[in-house]
Amino acid sequence: MRKTGIFAGISLAVIGGTVTFFSGMPASKAADIDAKKLFMTHCKTCHGEDGHPTDLGLGLGAREFANAEWQAKTTDEQIIKQINNGTPEKMMPFKEKLTQDEIKALVSVIRSFGKK
Ligand code: HEC
Repeated sequence: MRKTGIFAGISLAVIGGTVTFFSGMPASKAADIDAKKLFMTHCKTCHGEDGHPTDLGLGLGAREFANAEWQAKTTDEQIIKQINNGTPEKMMPFKEKLTQDEIKALVSVIRSFGKK
């Protein structure tokens, strides 16, 4: 019985340590992801804060994300693929910079630009 007590104590300490460790890390769990902030950090330079392309974005060929026709014909998979892989010489790939959860969260930011 004594042994189990010690063991349980250790497991609790490990769980506690893990929680503290993760809470100090940048958004790694889906619920913690601030997608809007990610967009402002990584995408705003070209796509603008409201999905309306900046001069830089326009020059490279970025589109208006609020465009209803584009929203309707584009699938979430296409958006995810674009963020992952980018387009050579136009948009850099983000698959090394962002997690798949973060990329999925960005899809909803892009969708939000289509709703007015
Ligand atoms: C350096 C400027 C730049 C940055 C930064 C950038 N993009 Fe792009 N993005 C572009 C350009 C230019 C295109 C058009 C590419 C093409 O025509 O293939 C594009 C296309 C896209 C598309 C596809 C639109 C379509 O035509 O179907 C999506 C979705 C997208 N970007 C999302 C993002 C997200 C999300 C981020 C941030 C994680 C981001 N972009 C960062 C320049 C940028």
